[in-house]
Amino acid sequence: MNGYKYLDKKGTFQMENPELTSYLYFPIANEAGVMSSVTPSLGGDSKMGQNAFLLSPVSSEDLHNNKASRNFWCNISGKGLWSATGKSAGQQADLFTDAKEETILEAGIMWHKLLRKSRKFGITSEITSLVPYSGELLEIMVVTLKNTGAADLEIIPTAAIPLYGRSADNIRDHRHVTSLLHRIVTTKTGVVLNPTLTFDERGHQKNTCVYGVFGVEENGGEPEGFYPTVEEFIGEGGSFENPKALTDTNIQSQKAGFSIDGYEAIGGIQFKKILLAPKEEKTYIICMGYDKGQEELENAVSMYSSKETCVTALEETKKYWQDKINVSYSSGCKDFDTWMYWVNFQPMLRRIYGCSFLPHHDYGKGGRGWRDLWQDCLALLIMNPDGVRNMLIDNFAGVRMDGTNATIIGSKQGEFIADRNNITRVWMDHGVWPFLTTNLYIMQSGDIDILLKENTYFKDPQAVRGEEKDTLWDTAYGKQLKTESGEIYQGSILEHMLVQHLTAFYDVGEHNHIRLRGADWNDALDLADKRGESVAFTAIYGGNLENMAKLILLLEGKGIKELGFAKELEILLSDDNNLYNDVQKKQELLNRYCHEGIHNISGDKIFISCRELAENLLNKAEWIKDHIRETEWITGERGHSWYNGYYDNNGRRVEGDNDNGVRMMLTSQVFTIMSETATMKQVEDIVKAADEYLYNESIGGYKLNTNFKEVKMDLGRMFGFAYGQKENGAVFSHMAVMYANALYQRGFVQEGYKVIHSLYSHCSNFEKSKIYPGIPEYIGENGRGLYHYLTGAASWLLLTVLTEMYGVKGELGELLFEPKLLLSQFDSNSKAGVDCVFADRKLTIEYYNKNQKEYGEYKITSIAIDGKPYESVREMVLRDDIIRLDAKKTHKIDIVLE
Ligand code: G1P
Repeated sequence: MNGYKYLDKKGTFQMENPELTSYLYFPIANEAGVMSSVTPSLGGDSKMGQNAFLLSPVSSEDLHNNKASRNFWCNISGKGLWSATGKSAGQQADLFTDAKEETILEAGIMWHKLLRKSRKFGITSEITSLVPYSGELLEIMVVTLKNTGAADLEIIPTAAIPLYGRSADNIRDHRHVTSLLHRIVTTKTGVVLNPTLTFDERGHQKNTCVYGVFGVEENGGEPEGFYPTVEEFIGEGGSFENPKALTDTNIQSQKAGFSIDGYEAIGGIQFKKILLAPKEEKTYIICMGYDKGQEELENAVSMYSSKETCVTALEETKKYWQDKINVSYSSGCKDFDTWMYWVNFQPMLRRIYGCSFLPHHDYGKGGRGWRDLWQDCLALLIMNPDGVRNMLIDNFAGVRMDGTNATIIGSKQGEFIADRNNITRVWMDHGVWPFLTTNLYIMQSGDIDILLKENTYFKDPQAVRGEEKDTLWDTAYGKQLKTESGEIYQGSILEHMLVQHLTAFYDVGEHNHIRLRGADWNDALDLADKRGESVAFTAIYGGNLENMAKLILLLEGKGIKELGFAKELEILLSDDNNLYNDVQKKQELLNRYCHEGIHNISGDKIFISCRELAENLLNKAEWIKDHIRETEWITGERGHSWYNGYYDNNGRRVEGDNDNGVRMMLTSQVFTIMSETATMKQVEDIVKAADEYLYNESIGGYKLNTNFKEVKMDLGRMFGFAYGQKENGAVFSHMAVMYANALYQRGFVQEGYKVIHSLYSHCSNFEKSKIYPGIPEYIGENGRGLYHYLTGAASWLLLTVLTEMYGVKGELGELLFEPKLLLSQFDSNSKAGVDCVFADRKLTIEYYNKNQKEYGEYKITSIAIDGKPYESVREMVLRDDIIRLDAKKTHKIDIVLE
């Protein structure tokens, strides 16, 4: 097996024999909703949502088991059947022999090209797949056949793409019955499938989506005939890899205008017989797509009826996505820079596909979760900050007055759906993310006034942090919290964040840490809702409270004397260490607060000075820190020390020495470090312990936990997973990256770099990770990258590399430079640079490490903008000076380090 090599700095890569690696898939999609996945033999699927799959849905195991694919057959006179995608019984049989065909994959952002060369048949195919950025609901396949033998070839080409045309639910549920809904017609250029009804979880409804596969010759020439049903195409005893119709003269293709009802459909498109002389080539264009009606679909398809239009579409699609990825690096490690290009692109994929719709992600039905919502904003803040302010404000409408939040998120911005489930789940970490994102926004933009913007609160029957129901609520009440007088209540964004943090502060278990409830960041810590506690997230709630206090003092600095909040918050603003130390009193207080607002709130306001509020929050933050430091710092038998981060459902401490071996979790370390709960000395100790117990270079670095060797039913389903997989001890990219982020933040630069470098080195070593460029959700115990592309880790890595490693960050709107680059990261000219956008201006920032000094020894000695020396106030450029730069041009900022 060979790895891939990059062909340019924009992520284009090439590799041989991609089909000799299993589980590979590649995303091509557009923002209009077409989401495809393509494998090296043109398998995979295409859909616009859970209920609209054009090609039948595939999970990772189907990638090698499925015979259905986007096949393109050549019936070559005197030689037999050859598949341009390699999906024929004969070619499959040759795969591990010397007769294996040569294959080369070339791919870049949102396009995929496969070259296949057959010595036996004397033919070569090149298949380019793309989904046009311009918004047509199509996936396009441009197939070029070339005679690479010595003799003329007489060929009948036939595209054969099975049309599934229904909900993913029906893959096992009523698969046959739903085929009876099918109404299939052939047009001049393709096969159209228009099901009468849809049968899925929404009930039986009239269908509103038409599917089709169409094909023309390179100059628009129409096909000769069609095979519209699977039964006819494969023939009795045949299959998609050995279709009888193409060799049995008794099975005739149909002409345009044919219709048939109630069968599994296939876009079988037979082209005219051609004669290809040696070196001659011929191109075919296949469009697969969706629309609300046949006419609309055919109109879209007609835009791509020549080779030229497809070439243009490909070029425009490439450019569109490349323009969107406006952060890129240039350092001493070119491969890292290009790999990061893919990482920077991944948050865009996650916005399109959500956490579903790629083959590993076979659980989701399309909705996005609360965490993703805020994580997506992180990447947007860096790459496309326009509109993020409103997005943040709108998202706060999902917060309930009890500090929890709506978990069903609508498709429109700021739309949240009432949860009528009787089993309510509360993730105790949810309150943490909005503040982290909002704080970053304020730092990048300087827009501290956002704290005072107002929005509503979410209201549904769920109350008292998932423990009770508001029996008075019904749909007529609506989804927004009201005051006693019936008005919809609005509170500031700051108030929303206070509600989230203060309720959590009191929501403690018997060890006086915040209760784990349904789970925290680790979704699979889901069996400790009675007595479980997450010290890890208690720490970051504390860190947030401290940073919130700092923002409030800034408001004071802007002349704001006092802040108004819902009167009910007065309860939460109690400030008394005796109370803080008393678990029962805290619970009672929280209960009282939650019941005050269980149905509606008074509408009265309280006012508090910024200073008093800040002090109040600082006291709480300090209390959390002290409490964790005093109670959770543990030392194992072998002398290593780290933080315990959890209590289980039996109230037992989770980490430390155990008869089954040492128990340590990475999450507990990440958030104690990030929140500055861990002292500098403690960070040093944690790093040593993590290196000892969690680090394994050969699988990409830091694992999520040690092996507990127990199916720990009193903590979470994660312990049912095999050790080394997913949330049970894999190298889980998101947490590993947050570990790096926390270490960089605390100035542990070598250590932070080690985390990222280990992860990057592993992922980009194809022989080990077996994935295309980018960061996967996790790396399994055998080194394979899994759940590629759709992971929150990408947003965090983008952020960490830009703002920590390169130290290009906002400080209340000014542009601060705080590089934490190691000497080894500079190129041979001692330079390292980043292209990015700040305050709407395109910037190329380049550090020059004049005397080749190591991190810690260099400091910034001069800054120049477009060649002119800049009189810097500390190591920053003021926002006003950036805004003065021409928005249409890219500006160079040169920074000398000495
Ligand atoms: C996934 C989920 C994320 C969750 C994590 C751990 O991570 O999307 O919300 O916190 O698992 O359970 P991701 O795939 O985003 O890396």
